[in-house]
Amino acid sequence: CGIVGYVGEKQAADFLVDGLTKLEYRGYDSAGIAVFDGEKIDIEKTVGRLAALKEKIKGHTPKGVIGIGHTRWATHGRPSDVNAHPHTDCSGKFAIVHNGIIENFMSLKEELIAKGHKFVSETDTEVVAHLIEDVYDGDFVKAVNAVLDRIEGSYSLVFMCQDYPDTLICTKKDNPLVIGLGDGENFIASDIPAIIAYTRRTYIMNDGEIAVVKKDSIWVTDRKGNPITKKVFEVNWNAEAAEKGGYEHFMLKEIYEQPKAVRDTISPRLNKDNTAIVLNELKWTKQYVEAFNKVYIIACGTAYHAGLVGKYYIEKLARIPVEIDIASEFRYRDPIIDDHTLTIVISQSGETSDTLAALKESKRLGAKTLAVTNVVGSSIAREADQVMYTWAGPEIAVASTKAYTTQLVTMFILAMYMSSLKGTISPERTHELLTELRHLPDQVGRTLEDVEPIKAFAKNYAYNNDVFYIGRSLDYYVALEGALKLKEISYIHAEAYAAGELKHGTLALIESGVPVIALATQKSVYEKTLSNIKEVKARDAVIIGIAAADDNELEKYVDHVIKVPTTDELLIPLLTVVPLQLLAYYAAITRGCDVDKPRNLAKSVTVE
Ligand code: G6P
Repeated sequence: CGIVGYVGEKQAADFLVDGLTKLEYRGYDSAGIAVFDGEKIDIEKTVGRLAALKEKIKGHTPKGVIGIGHTRWATHGRPSDVNAHPHTDCSGKFAIVHNGIIENFMSLKEELIAKGHKFVSETDTEVVAHLIEDVYDGDFVKAVNAVLDRIEGSYSLVFMCQDYPDTLICTKKDNPLVIGLGDGENFIASDIPAIIAYTRRTYIMNDGEIAVVKKDSIWVTDRKGNPITKKVFEVNWNAEAAEKGGYEHFMLKEIYEQPKAVRDTISPRLNKDNTAIVLNELKWTKQYVEAFNKVYIIACGTAYHAGLVGKYYIEKLARIPVEIDIASEFRYRDPIIDDHTLTIVISQSGETSDTLAALKESKRLGAKTLAVTNVVGSSIAREADQVMYTWAGPEIAVASTKAYTTQLVTMFILAMYMSSLKGTISPERTHELLTELRHLPDQVGRTLEDVEPIKAFAKNYAYNNDVFYIGRSLDYYVALEGALKLKEISYIHAEAYAAGELKHGTLALIESGVPVIALATQKSVYEKTLSNIKEVKARDAVIIGIAAADDNELEKYVDHVIKVPTTDELLIPLLTVVPLQLLAYYAAITRGCDVDKPRNLAKSVTVE
């Protein structure tokens, strides 16, 4: 979900609607705003995209200089008008917006119903509105504190009260919240893109802090009422960076931003003559790295796929055993961890609830923790002992692209760093790999130069029911990511298989005309992959091969071939994934899908 708040001298609704537009990627099945005109809080909300809300309020936009707003991605209660936020209490004195989950809402709801409160929605959030009405004795701050004493779960919350026409109160736990500092006005948002067109000066809120926000002042305290002096965080990226900038979709823009994103992620960490990785953010020693006898990598979705490649890198280069797990599995499986374990969590947003919980669990069990994330000041960045940022810039499209490639490169840099400290690879091999790394951003750029053949394949195969992706070793991990991209934005059923595993079942699904994307870039398993390609060809599949530029063999066995620049086989996943992203993009376009906002999915999943 996305939340916003405004208090100032202008019409609040203007900022609320505009800010929500920038946050729509956080969830978009319903939207609403509440504006206070000094007499009555006017709440307007509706199921559907923000456009539906704009339509609804056209001609009678709520008037007032203070207000809150929300876009929702349903958790408790289906998308509907009544389940949309803001929520209010029986008297209409309060309005609130919430991002997260109130875990004990059922018991609180029963208690409040017994006291005579009438609920109108199925949401967990409505309980907060009734609870504040119940505990309120005229003191707004005290009432918010009393609510926080009772609710369990995760939240960022903004409260508005009719008795306080100049005040918003906001707080958070395990969900993001920022305050934008204006001149005679202040802004609240769950994410920076909502406010950067208005101000670059922000306070990043921490768990357990409560902010009383008026147009000329912001008073932040802890839960005990002790004042907290917040540091101003200056946002250093501009508003255009969060906009589409000429591209038809954020996803396409982000695919094309990959050369820059990869360069920004590499260059501060590579020395001038390509002989060493310099990680000022870690400053590890040989002893520190040698103390690890196991590494866990934990993530969700695309970040998990980047983790698979990361596991390969660390094992191959630094020779430390790595276990990888999906965050929602890891946290409930009683993992074996001690203080010789390094846990690496990978998360674009730094806010994914399961990944955050897995990180906390690892810490509790004594592991050293490292976050690889794209969002400075995110919950995961703050929770981990150490952080490596992927400098991809804001990623808006739900389907992750530039975050993935920067995660791959970050994991490679980390593995090289660990291996050089441990002495597991020679200086010659280090120099060779780091020289290839230096060329990588330009090579990513070259994969984007000729997309016409990819467009043509996408058009030809966009109406097939199933597409299969196969590969071995690193190619298999990229195949998984390619299949996920196609599934999530084009809704074509896509599956990735380790090529050697096909004959154990999946081959039964291959029949005449079924498209198979075959990645064949890994030299050590090249012949084996070719045999697997022949197996599917014998069943009359249509095969699109993905190969390095210097491969003149694969084209003999496949129907079409897409070539990427030649580099070391360890780094080639950064290149082979690009045509797969484009294939998914153009297939989705051909099918008329909403590329940036695929159905049922959200960019940042801050619920379990
Ligand atoms: C959501 C997004 C995916 C993303 C995953 C993990 O499902 O739609 O694109 O890979 O969350 O997100 P994170 O921010 O933790 O990388």
